[in-house]
Amino acid sequence: MAAMTPRESAAVLRGICARTPVIPVMEIHDAGRARPLAEALLAGGLSVLEVTLRTPAAEAALREMAQVPGAVVGAGTLLTPCDVARAVEAGADFGVSPGATPRLIEAALDAGLPLLPGAVTPSEMMRLLEEGHDMLKFFPAAASGGASALAAIAAPLPQLAFCPTGGVTEANAPDYLALPNVLCVGGSWTAPRALVEAEDWPAIERLAHRAAGLAHRLRAG
Ligand code: 3PG
Repeated sequence: MAAMTPRESAAVLRGICARTPVIPVMEIHDAGRARPLAEALLAGGLSVLEVTLRTPAAEAALREMAQVPGAVVGAGTLLTPCDVARAVEAGADFGVSPGATPRLIEAALDAGLPLLPGAVTPSEMMRLLEEGHDMLKFFPAAASGGASALAAIAAPLPQLAFCPTGGVTEANAPDYLALPNVLCVGGSWTAPRALVEAEDWPAIERLAHRAAGLAHRLRAG
């Protein structure tokens, strides 16, 4: 992948986030279950998936999911340039980080990996915006004030769009999705570990279908 600018990276992420109201965030322990899991989520209508690089099985799982036709698969929990390299090697379409450091961002841009960087305070957001990153992850969303915090941030920083993640649930997702500065949300509720381990793909498809039906604003800016 060719190196990219922050603006190019943000534009790719805006396009990806505008495709879906919900990005399933998954910690996968058994790569053998990754493909049917992704197929169930896509069958339910969710095509943008995030695999966190927190388990030994993560990269193999990402590779499996990336084979599913129509799937757009990101690598989450990128903390270091080494994580960026792991994500690229596993074939990730994009990366997600809980925060943002200059080294991480530089590594992702150099590798041509579109990155969704995390921010939670106005100063963090303003620093990223100065560089051209105008599509951010708001993490940890619920613990940082939830939808009302993001609504307040829209007033002084309307240029920014967000994917809130962390404590987002089926119940509170509509509060976020109703905001003009939210393109989509991320959450683990569509692929609960117990259902994955039980290989209950129809139940996961039903959860995905409900999530895919959540209203959201299409703002591919
Ligand atoms: C994470 O860090 O695992 C994601 O932000 C998902 O958080 P959640 O489990 O609260 O949805």
